[in-house]
Amino acid sequence: MSTYDVELKDIVKVFESGGARVRAVDRVSVEIEDGEFFALLGPSGCGKTTTLRLIAGFEQPTSGHILIRGRAMEGIPAYHRPVNTVFQDYALFPHLTVEQNIMFGLQMEGVDKKEARKRALEALEQVRLPGVGERMPHHLSGGQQQRVALARALVKQPAVLLLDEPLGALDLKLRKNMQFELKALQRDVGITFIYVTHDQEEAITMADRIAVMNEGLMLQVGTPKEIYEHPQTHFVADFIGETNFIPGALLQRGGDGFGQVKLADGTVIRAQLSHALDSAAKAVTVAVRPERIGIAAPSDRPAQEIDGLTALDAVLAGSQYIGTDTRYTLALGDEIELVARLQNVNNIDSAAFQAGQRVKVYWDESSTTVLDQ
Ligand SMILES: Nc1ncnc2c1ncn2[C@@H]1O[C@H](COP(=O)(O)OP(=O)(O)OP(=O)(O)O)[C@@H](O)[C@H]1O
Ligand SMILES: [Mg+2]
Repeated sequence: MSTYDVELKDIVKVFESGGARVRAVDRVSVEIEDGEFFALLGPSGCGKTTTLRLIAGFEQPTSGHILIRGRAMEGIPAYHRPVNTVFQDYALFPHLTVEQNIMFGLQMEGVDKKEARKRALEALEQVRLPGVGERMPHHLSGGQQQRVALARALVKQPAVLLLDEPLGALDLKLRKNMQFELKALQRDVGITFIYVTHDQEEAITMADRIAVMNEGLMLQVGTPKEIYEHPQTHFVADFIGETNFIPGALLQRGGDGFGQVKLADGTVIRAQLSHALDSAAKAVTVAVRPERIGIAAPSDRPAQEIDGLTALDAVLAGSQYIGTDTRYTLALGDEIELVARLQNVNNIDSAAFQAGQRVKVYWDESSTTVLDQ
């Protein structure tokens, strides 16, 4: 018996369209645990919706296997799978009341009316919308309609809830509130959520784990912290947050997961190797986040002498005040430009460094990742 709620084993989905073949999902394997909030994150067209539709049973994989609660899903139609889907556009029935909308699926399953009504009212309580059962959907706000759509999915007590950009139609403020509520609700009901979004912040703040997808491939699966702090590929580092990419040549690989990289200006630094780095890679990219870079006066000796710290000479090219932070651009020789973000906390004067000034930039070696070019 499997301990996973949803398992995808080497899933491929090829669409044939107008003579062209599109690999919408490409050899995806992943295991999602019971009660997990799992986000599928990636740009438009990367295969997120197709992955959900395969799990839901609206599409069949070209090859590979899907298991839900240890049970193979081959030949099992969508309406017999223990999953429910919430789409971006809610798709509430406009001519039915809120309560009738929520009861509909239960009555289709043969649940008697009294019981269906009781469960519908409970579901409305769960999504914090008591008392609106008699109203028509179009008399509710967008956020309220979204919650009715959620209640309608939850009432059927699925093992897994699939959500496809469920907050996409809401304005920013409501979206933030709903992110918070949805996360709390998921924790309360303990149902596994597979949540599609192209919004990195939404994925980072809500999910237990994130899968970053591009062109049908699941490039990296990990906790928000792993994905943000240790992106294993150029694409993931670039897609999530801001990153400095410094080109270099990999001179040596240490047994400790670090390597020596020669930068364009001739300096050699020690940096952490990505697990996904090609074993033959010579030309590489060192990624380091702007908030991991510190700036010091050239005369500041400690920055150059602490073990595990990389310190390099640079010239401050410019700065931009952005409220909570100041964003500095720095030149390392003629070839390399870096961005550093320093927080404007009480005792640090963001005007301390002037454009044109020589400085030291420094970072912890473990804040770097050596990626394929
Ligand atoms: N029924 C279909 N027939 C042909 N091609 C399809 C079909 N459905 C999806 N595709 C293609 O498969 C790829 C993945 O589509 P998918 O809808 O899964 O992307 P997505 O990640 O959900 O994108 P978005 O963020 O824009 O919703 C795209 O190139 C798309 O054009
Ligand atoms: Mg989609």
